[in-house]
Amino acid sequence: MGLKGRVALVTGGGAAGDGVGNGRAACILLARAGASVLVVDRDLALAERTVAMIAAEGGTAAAASFDVTEGAQCQAMVAEAVSRFGRLDLLDNNVGIGSKGSVVEETEETWHRVMRVNVDSMFLTCKHAIPAMIKTAGGGAIVNVSSISALRPRGLTTYTVSKGAVIALTQAMAVDHGKDNIRVNCVAPGPVYTPMVYDRGMSEQARDNRRRASVLAIEGTGWDVGHAVRFLLSEQARYITGHTLVVDGGTTLRAPERESQEH
Ligand SMILES: NC(=O)c1ccc[n+]([C@@H]2O[C@H](COP(=O)([O-])OP(=O)(O)OC[C@H]3O[C@@H](n4cnc5c(N)ncnc54)[C@H](O)[C@@H]3O)[C@@H](O)[C@H]2O)c1
Repeated sequence: MGLKGRVALVTGGGAAGDGVGNGRAACILLARAGASVLVVDRDLALAERTVAMIAAEGGTAAAASFDVTEGAQCQAMVAEAVSRFGRLDLLDNNVGIGSKGSVVEETEETWHRVMRVNVDSMFLTCKHAIPAMIKTAGGGAIVNVSSISALRPRGLTTYTVSKGAVIALTQAMAVDHGKDNIRVNCVAPGPVYTPMVYDRGMSEQARDNRRRASVLAIEGTGWDVGHAVRFLLSEQARYITGHTLVVDGGTTLRAPERESQEH
């Protein structure tokens, strides 16, 4: 997994308190592999906490506050990574927000907001990161964070559509930028227990239901997603591009309605 000398940018790399979200886990694991990491979050204090955790282990990281729904801020974010660390090799497009309900229940405002945060942010970040990777590192690797909701819809329609677009964007960028020596992959997490989930309040019963939804009957964490991101950004994944790696303990394989009829 040696990433010494590489520079990584992770969006949404903060997390509440000492909790480990998908972005924070990726930041810590990339730093452990030797990369210098620009930890970006809209909330600077959350990114600073991630940097402190990395520094405590002897890793190299810097915190920055940018809103990835704004093109000018994405441009400045990429410029900051290059000016701080001299190059840009790796990008984890991790920012995303949820939604609830069907198209009938959804408001126009929330539809546009979710698409902007979950899809436009990745378009805007890549628009500026890819030329910087080509110029400063002669190529690189990108991971976009989708969700199993894109593969198995379950009543979160706007979120599902946005995360489906993330997979399509990944495949299109993989085709466009293979010639630039840039690999583009996707991670689709199942229900992992991150601060975003437990800060909304989750009962032990709900937590147990999520656990039992996987064929392994275990709970996923931010670390599981972080390990997948780090692998796809490493040289070990040099022959992998345009792929969606599902990290869900087998949750998408289950068909609960059929199983309940059988028992
Ligand atoms: N937690 C899950 O169960 C789960 C499941 C599937 C997919 N995912 C995806 O994983 C990713 C991260 O999830 P998480 O649970 O770690 O989330 P999280 O909410 O804990 O972390 C995301 C971070 O992004 C930051 N952020 C939000 N909007 C931003 C913006 N416009 N600009 C910059 N920063 C912004 C937040 O401040 C937060 O610190 C998301 O894309 C999410 O959709 C999560």
